[in-house]
Amino acid sequence: MPSYPDFVSKYPAYDKTHNLDDLREREYGRLDRLGQVYLDYTGGGLYADSQVRRHLDLLLGSVFGNPHSSNPTSLAATQLIESARRAVLDFFHAPPDEYIVVFTQNASGALKLVGEAYPFGRGCHYLLTFDNHNSVNGIREFAHAKGADVTYVPLMLPDLRVDEKMLAGYLDLGLAGCAPAPSGGAGNLFAYPAQSNFSSVLHPLEWIEQAHAKGWDVLLDAAAFAPTNPLDLSKWKPDFVPLSFYKMFGYPTGIGALIARKSVLGKLHRPWFAGGTITVASVQGGKYYLAEGPAGFEDGTLDYLNIPAIEIGLKHLEAVGLDLIHERVRCLTGWLLEGLSALRHSSGVPLARVYGPLTTEKRGGAVTLNFFDKEDHPIDIRLVEQAASERGISLRTGCFCNPGAGEIALQISQMELAACFSQQSHIQRLTYDDFRTCIDDKASGAVRISVGMVSNFEDVQAVLKFAEGLVE
Ligand SMILES: Cc1ncc(COP(=O)(O)O)c(C=O)c1O
Repeated sequence: MPSYPDFVSKYPAYDKTHNLDDLREREYGRLDRLGQVYLDYTGGGLYADSQVRRHLDLLLGSVFGNPHSSNPTSLAATQLIESARRAVLDFFHAPPDEYIVVFTQNASGALKLVGEAYPFGRGCHYLLTFDNHNSVNGIREFAHAKGADVTYVPLMLPDLRVDEKMLAGYLDLGLAGCAPAPSGGAGNLFAYPAQSNFSSVLHPLEWIEQAHAKGWDVLLDAAAFAPTNPLDLSKWKPDFVPLSFYKMFGYPTGIGALIARKSVLGKLHRPWFAGGTITVASVQGGKYYLAEGPAGFEDGTLDYLNIPAIEIGLKHLEAVGLDLIHERVRCLTGWLLEGLSALRHSSGVPLARVYGPLTTEKRGGAVTLNFFDKEDHPIDIRLVEQAASERGISLRTGCFCNPGAGEIALQISQMELAACFSQQSHIQRLTYDDFRTCIDDKASGAVRISVGMVSNFEDVQAVLKFAEGLVE
């Protein structure tokens, strides 16, 4: 098996990222102490010891009350929430006169806020790439319910990227027939991920302005992108950016954000009101008035004890440096792709089939693949995960909530899916196992190995060694 000198001679930039090894030793020592090979950074990031300590010190050194009041403990909480909001804007270089930050439970919560409130009217369009997380796909149900058209932009094999010329054609869809939604307003929305959580493809940020120029509002899903790529909202101007903070710096879980452009926020019509979101609501008067800005979108009591940990996490990530992380991730991903591609059975059959780009160009640090035996039959992903787990390796298997990319990668046709769904239409709930059987085991999913902030050469060697063990 090639060794470290081979690696650095191919990826000399790795040698400039050794600060991350010191960081791992200092702040993430539990990984090596507990013999964990963590390779699921696209699933969730890891926290530094000091993030937790700082947060704990903050909680132990103050008294915080529910923020919706003007007593001292309430004000203390409000102050930290507002400071965290500013920290999010600063982190993404989002001009405060242009963007606001709405705290949500996670990226999915942010997406639901947009979906349920977006003015999809009859003849309006919801345009989205095949490559999207289910929480972006799910918005189509709001669009359908309001009579809008839903259109998917396909992906091209083998790289699972979008054909740019084809995209331009989709963006030319006639928007003139977009009628006002029952709640007022009208709009056409284009949604795509800045980085795929399936193939790790980095889709061009240039699409944002191309879509704007043709009259679309743009939802840029940054959940998989933000942990290892800088997103500069003074340069790129998407209208809605959902994200989850645990993916960026591991702690706390349960908090995400919708970063939204003020100019488009007025288009959203929330379907309800809740505690904290109104200026006035009356029982006898039967009226309510939504609060301006983020408050109008934050239902009930915010997670006010954990939100201060967001600012701590952002400062941590800033201090480490996204460019440094990006570079290390690039080197390790390249090495992983090369190592996996080199493995072959004695029969000549390649061990691994990677879905998505095979080089580090315009891609992130997740490698999604299936392993095949020497007769070229896929090795069951459940067995792969189990065998990896026995070696202390955390990787992820399944479809990663991205069925569109999965269907194209695994070459499951629309006809096969339609036949399967019509056969099963009499049942209320289709289990994943039923679906697998119906689709002839083609939808068995894939294995995703993803590197991140404190991944190192040894982690990648461990998974390559594991893969080598599958060679017959
Ligand atoms: C690209 C992308 N979008 C959205 C989400 C949803 O994030 P959450 O589950 O934190 O709501 C994920 C989660 O994996 C993701 O990878």
